Amino acid sequence: MTSAPHSDPAPRRRIAVVGAGPSGLYAAAALAASGRPVDVDVIDRLPAPYGLVRYGVAPDHVKMKSVIRVLAKPFDPATVRFLGNVRVGEGGVPLEALRTCYSAIVHATGTSVDRSLGVPGEDLEGSIGSGAFVSWYSGHPDFTKLDPPLDHPGMAVVGAGNVALDVARVLAKSADEMADTDIPDPVLDALRASKIRDIHIVIRRGPQHVKFTPAELRQIGELANADVVVHDDGLLAAGVPEPEERRQQQNLAMLTEWAARESKDRPRCIHLHFLRSPVRLVGTDGRVSALVVERNVVDGDRVRGTGEEEVLDVGLVVRAIGYAAEPVPGLPFDAATGTVPNAAGRVLDGDTPVPGAYVTGWIKRGPTGVIGTNKSCAHETVAAVLEDLDSLPVPEADVEAVLAQHGAEPVDWTSWLRLDAEEVRRGGLRGTQRVKVAELDEMLAAARAADSALSRG
Ligand SMILES: Cc1cc2nc3c(=O)[nH]c(=O)nc-3n(C[C@H](O)[C@H](O)[C@H](O)COP(=O)(O)OP(=O)(O)OC[C@H]3O[C@@H](n4cnc5c(N)ncnc54)[C@H](O)[C@@H]3O)c2cc1C
Ligand SMILES: NC(=O)c1ccc[n+]([C@@H]2O[C@H](COP(=O)([O-])OP(=O)(O)OC[C@H]3O[C@@H](n4cnc5c(N)ncnc54)[C@H](OP(=O)(O)O)[C@@H]3O)[C@@H](O)[C@H]2O)c1
Repeated sequence: MTSAPHSDPAPRRRIAVVGAGPSGLYAAAALAASGRPVDVDVIDRLPAPYGLVRYGVAPDHVKMKSVIRVLAKPFDPATVRFLGNVRVGEGGVPLEALRTCYSAIVHATGTSVDRSLGVPGEDLEGSIGSGAFVSWYSGHPDFTKLDPPLDHPGMAVVGAGNVALDVARVLAKSADEMADTDIPDPVLDALRASKIRDIHIVIRRGPQHVKFTPAELRQIGELANADVVVHDDGLLAAGVPEPEERRQQQNLAMLTEWAARESKDRPRCIHLHFLRSPVRLVGTDGRVSALVVERNVVDGDRVRGTGEEEVLDVGLVVRAIGYAAEPVPGLPFDAATGTVPNAAGRVLDGDTPVPGAYVTGWIKRGPTGVIGTNKSCAHETVAAVLEDLDSLPVPEADVEAVLAQHGAEPVDWTSWLRLDAEEVRRGGLRGTQRVKVAELDEMLAAARAADSALSRG
């Protein structure tokens, strides 16, 4: 008897997701859940996953960080592996080398470069982008030596987005309040020694235009340690035209109430300066000693400078004016939008899709949107990958060998869990859920420590 002919099962495709932030992890989860024959490697240049959830979301937003439980779900050595501590591109594994071992690569590397204001004095010591400042207090290994000057009673944050509010709130809280977060011990020590009393948020447009979300704005009005003072040249009392969006209406109602509020003489004060644009940073001995701002007037939805200047007495200026992306070597890049050109996630070179190249998250859309926005964005990209799947090549090259050839020493999921356990252990010593390990060598040592070493203390 001869057996009936049967067709070979479809060959498995290996897909790399580069970037273990929310967009990369939502993409990995969608690929794993697709039921198609795919093996997924999530690659990140850091030994720890979660991107800006770990290194951006403010440390006191503990509830927000619990999304980590969802983002961790796809990791299963059988289908989704973590390859941390592997940088792709310059100084790491070249993209061409990676292409030899994967059928497709989903780029999810975010946009990490601080935008600049383009005003004189930005290079002075004490002038810092929010990316760097937030990374410092979040324990990002690239910024442990930032040492921002907190020794002057005044500081300024430029921008009217949620990142500006995060920076202002972290500096306005007492060190005891911040001790109950995951910030590294040296950051807590620096905040404890902080002399900052006046936090000036410099906003170029009016109260009806701010990009804050009401929930985040409300938090600065509820701080136990700080007052909020609204500087609006009487704009709110005179009546501002009702904005269309509900979010803006809620912000306006809150700001109007605060403008009429009495100061409570709390130790710190957050000043909201509307209709002010930075024009230059002034230095003394190479360090920021003042920020000069120009008064603006509203002209429709835009503002116009009046030429009238004011001086804010500050020793630190943090720009929270958004982010830019670095080009991914080997991929097309649109410098004007700071994104990789794409159609629904397929990378485009002119009008032509680049075979096997996809993008998701901030590198695809630009640096706006909350964590959840990345889920639908990743699903769109994964739909494109799955549509193309059968036509993608099945590369022969061995991933481990290629990574080793380029000097990469990956941290796998089990090793990350060791580092995770070490952070929880350190948290126990400080009476909080977790304390970040920030120095790269310490992260790697904790990730590679024998399990038994973790049970100490
Ligand atoms: C300061 C700040 C606070 C925020 N707070 C909130 C909040 O409270 N709530 C909210 O909903 N949203 C918040 N957001 C927005 C949210 O963090 C983003 O929407 C989201 O993180 C974008 O995801 P992403 O995956 O595109 O990028 P990212 O989160 O930036 O992830 C990119 C990943 O790629 C890795 N990577 C970069 N280059 C390479 C390379 N060459 N090789 C390998 N890996 C690489 C990085 O290490 C990183 O892990 C905040 C954003 C910022 C900037
Ligand atoms: N808790 C949260 O949910 C949370 C926390 C942090 C971040 N996020 C999200 O992450 C994304 C990024 O946040 P973000 O705060 O970086 O960006 P953002 O919301 O885009 O805000 C950037 C701010 O910078 C201002 N700005 C830009 N260029 C300027 C200049 N040259 N001079 C003065 N001001 C300038 C903008 O003013 P104009 O409005 O006048 O353009 C805007 O107010 C957002 O989608 C945000 O909602 C969410």
